[in-house]
This record gives sequence, structure tokens and C-alpha cells, in this order.
Amino acid sequence: MSHTPLGIAVIGAGMAGKAHANAYRQATAVYAPTLPEVRLVSICDLNGEVAADAAARFGYERHDTDWRQIVADPSIHVVSVVVANFLHREIVEALLAAGKHVLCEKPLSDTIEDAEAMAEAARNASTVARIGLTFRRSPGIAFIRDLVQTGRLGDVLHFSGRYWADYGAHPDAPMSWRYQGPAGSGALADIGSHLSYVAEFVCGDIRSVSGARLTTAITERPKPLGAVVGHTRGAVSTETAPVENDDYAGFTAEFENGSGTLEVSRVAVAHPTSMFFEVFGTKGAARWDQRNFAQVEVAFHDDPADVIGYRTVQMGPTHPYVAGGLPIDAPGAGHGQNDQFVFQARAFLDEVVGAPESASLPRCASFEEGVRNMRLLDAVVRSHAADGAAVDVPAL
Ligand SMILES: NC(=O)c1ccc[n+]([C@@H]2O[C@H](COP(=O)([O-])OP(=O)(O)OC[C@H]3O[C@@H](n4cnc5c(N)ncnc54)[C@H](O)[C@@H]3O)[C@@H](O)[C@H]2O)c1
Repeated sequence: MSHTPLGIAVIGAGMAGKAHANAYRQATAVYAPTLPEVRLVSICDLNGEVAADAAARFGYERHDTDWRQIVADPSIHVVSVVVANFLHREIVEALLAAGKHVLCEKPLSDTIEDAEAMAEAARNASTVARIGLTFRRSPGIAFIRDLVQTGRLGDVLHFSGRYWADYGAHPDAPMSWRYQGPAGSGALADIGSHLSYVAEFVCGDIRSVSGARLTTAITERPKPLGAVVGHTRGAVSTETAPVENDDYAGFTAEFENGSGTLEVSRVAVAHPTSMFFEVFGTKGAARWDQRNFAQVEVAFHDDPADVIGYRTVQMGPTHPYVAGGLPIDAPGAGHGQNDQFVFQARAFLDEVVGAPESASLPRCASFEEGVRNMRLLDAVVRSHAADGAAVDVPAL
């Protein structure tokens, strides 16, 4: 690595863009050895006010309103792409062509064709291209994966997972890009991408899906009168626009080992953001609930019969990501969703600067894994279209 500081930019300063902006700021202050010098160069958002506010708040040198300014700046080496899914491809391809390292948000794109083109561009690039399937950075989820992979839970028998959110529960929640697009581009793509990825991260590949059901509960939404960022509500017009995609999706999955059910909703009243899953093996079981982010519950079959049952384990330095990843990394100190963006940013920067994976964190997911995740969700849509018939999921 030369002495040139690593220049960083974030494109999109909405809900997740701010999490990326903050994560790069924190990434140099966690783990060892320390990273080379980084420069927080620019936050870019079409909305200049949003961009300027985020740049000032997170300590970036400037803000931009056209992503092409990021592409054209030779002092920027690393870029997060955190805008609506249908915008990912054009921006990512231009960044890779300009020799930038790219961390793109999930799902990789809004169509499989575009996602495959992006994966092709990543294969041809000399830089690092990764996708922000951020929940693999949850210490609790990574710990449960370890319990499965080391055989401590025995063979996986079944998985039950749900991701319930309520950002669309109120009929007054304004129209935004999240409600536009074909079947499967709604809750299934938005939060189902996370849940299905976590299901495979923990239990291994899903071979086929069946029994899929996608529904739209609120079929029209008011047009916003101002900018919509993330799940904010605000002043809305009396004019409405049709909701084009799914509020709810549920399906069953056949894994290489075991079966499961997965369910996602953006109209689950009183669940701001609640991923929950439970995995049952021949030797024990484990579960994780986003509402208690820094805890895992585990149970083992061979515990004495009079105390058998779930015990709560506080995540601490013996678990993934925690040691050195938090200012207070003792058990019980707690962490949450924002921290997993920091762990993700650090893993990405470590890879960019060439730190060996053995001395760093596990790498971020590849664009190929992003395509695979979209193929899995596409199989769910096809199962729904075929009245719940079983549909094979193409291998990675
Ligand atoms: N990993 C996670 O946990 C997580 C969480 C939320 C969102 N996401 C993903 O992040 C992405 C963005 O989601 P969000 O909720 O932050 O969206 P958002 O609507 O809150 O923010 C998007 C921002 O992009 C800006 N924008 C629109 N067009 C632009 C352009 N051409 N150039 C620059 N900026 C532009 C908008 O002004 C807005 O501020 C999506 O892909 C979403 O799936 C991931």
C-alpha cells in the first residue's frame, strides 16, 4: 500500500447510506492492525440538502449531487452504492470501469439480468466488488452458523424464520421506490433478501422452494409532498399511486439438509424491524431475535433433564466480531444493527488494502452470492405464480 490515503465516498445518503457513512468513520477505530490512512471524501445524494447534512454530520470533506462526480474523482478509491435497487447497475458498472472498489447494497439489483451483468463486470474488474448482505455481520447470527458448522447442534432438521417490519403498515406511508416494481420486488426483495440469505448462511443451500404466497395488503398509497428518506412518513398529497408489489411473502424451503419456512412482511404492525429465526438440529437448537441483537438463545439435548431448555448467552469477545470490534467489547455491553455496518466496512477495507483474510474478518459476500440470492427470490415468485408448486433454485 502506498502512502496515498484511501479515499472513500458514499452514494446515497438515505437510511442505509448514513449507516455506511458512519461505518467508514468507525472502521479505522476497530480491530488490529490499524488500517492505512483513510480520507472521508464525499457523500453524494441527488438531494443536495440530504447530502450536505450527511457530509457535515459524518465528517466527509464535501458533498456531491451527481454520482458521476464520484466516478471522475481519482482521489476516491472506495465507494458504497446505497441508492434504490434499480439504480445500482448503472452506477456500479461506471465505478468499476473507473477502477473503484465497490460495496453495493442488497439486493444486487431489481432484475436478474442486471444483477448478472453486474457480476460479469465484477469478474472483469481488477478492484474489489462486494455486496452488503449485512446480517452476516451480526455476532449472534455468525455464532449460530458456527454452532451449525462445527456440529454442536448436530444435523440441521428444520429452520423457521421471519422478518417482520411495519414501515408499510400505515396506509398513509407515502409512495416510494420500495412500492414500485414487479411481484417479488416488495417485501420479498427488501427484507426477504436478508432473511433468505441468513437462512442459507446458517443452514446451507436451499434446493427448492414451494407453497409461496405473495400478497399486497394496501393497494394504493398517497404521493409524498417532499423527499422520502428511508421509512419516514411526512406530508402527503390527496393523490394516490398504485402499490405494485408485495407487502407480504411466505414460502417453504427444502435445504440440502432439512426443511424450513420463511415469512416476511412490511405491514406487520408494531414490528419496526424484527428478524427472528430458530434452527433445530439433532443435538440442540438455537434462536436469534433482532430485538435482542446482542443475545443468542441455545439449548442442548444432552443437558440434564431437569434443567433442559433455552439459555440466554450474551455475545462477548468469545463470539464473532465482538473482540476489538466495539469500544467496550465485554459481554453484556451490547451492540446493534449499526455496528454490523461497521464490521462490514472494516472487512471490506481490509480486503481492499490486501490484508489476508486469515488475519482479518471474513470477507463480504460476492456479487455472485448476490445473484444467487436473487435467483432464490425469483424461485419464490415463480412458485407463487404456479399456485405454490415446488421450484428448484439454481446453484451458485
Ligand atoms: N443492509 C441493510 O441493512 C439495508 C437497510 C436499508 C436499506 N438497504 C439498501 O440500501 C439501498 C438504499 O435504501 P435506503 O433505505 O437507504 O433508501 P432511501 O430511499 O432512504 O435513500 C436513498 C437515497 O438515494 C438518493 N438518490 C436517489 N437517486 C439518486 C441518484 N441518482 N444519485 C444519488 N442519490 C440518489 C435519494 O435522494 C435518497 O436520499 C437499497 O438498495 C436498500 O435495499 C440495506
